[in-house]
Amino acid sequence: MLYGADIDGDIAEFGTMTGATARGLARAIATCDATLTQAIAVYGSRPRTLHLFDSFVGLPATDNPIDASAPHVQDGAWMPGACCGLEPDALLAETTAFLAAERVRIHAGWFSETVPALPLDTRFALIHIDCDLYSSAMDALSGLLDRGLIARGAYVFFDDWNCNRADPNLGERRAWRECCERYGIVASDQGAYGVFSRCFIVHDYRRAPDPTG
Ligand SMILES: C[S@@+](CC[C@H](N)C(=O)[O-])C[C@H]1O[C@@H](n2cnc3c(N)ncnc32)[C@H](O)[C@@H]1O
Repeated sequence: MLYGADIDGDIAEFGTMTGATARGLARAIATCDATLTQAIAVYGSRPRTLHLFDSFVGLPATDNPIDASAPHVQDGAWMPGACCGLEPDALLAETTAFLAAERVRIHAGWFSETVPALPLDTRFALIHIDCDLYSSAMDALSGLLDRGLIARGAYVFFDDWNCNRADPNLGERRAWRECCERYGIVASDQGAYGVFSRCFIVHDYRRAPDPTG
């Protein structure tokens, strides 16, 4: 879809844990590179980089009241440190089985720190949000949207859309709704792609005002 529609930018995953979906993304990029050569040539697309974001110490401790009221937080499934998976080196090995090492970037740390550190010319054409918590999804999305790092036409995939009993006031559902309001996002709902998951295409949004004027 990114290749055929000439959507500029890289691929990002927020929440890598076992490396299963990161590996799938790396393999998909490699397959597209090998098979969609005509589209790449016509659009002059640059090689896409896979950016992988994770704390590598599991879920954060959060005192956010929205997360505190989430069923998975209350039942202990999403306790601080849960969902800790592969170390960065192992994740790199999983993904460089498909992509050259210079096309995989691992951003270790909390999203609230790693996303604002991205260079301003970063653009993402596909974003996989798989970080469970409302506050984590907000940190990832608002960090990108504040600085205009999401390409027009980008696909945003939410892995945990129907977690928390699909309560619209919790988790990724709430984070997306609040981002849509805050940044004036115009998006198409592409529907479900799994039991828990949902995908959107971002057409337009406004960046946060520059505080320095
Ligand atoms: C459900 S797991 C991701 C599953 C993964 N996609 C897979 O294929 O196994 C959630 C991940 O999000 C990370 N995470 C959640 N909130 C985070 C935050 N605020 N900053 C950094 N990492 C975070 C956790 O460390 C954990 O690895």
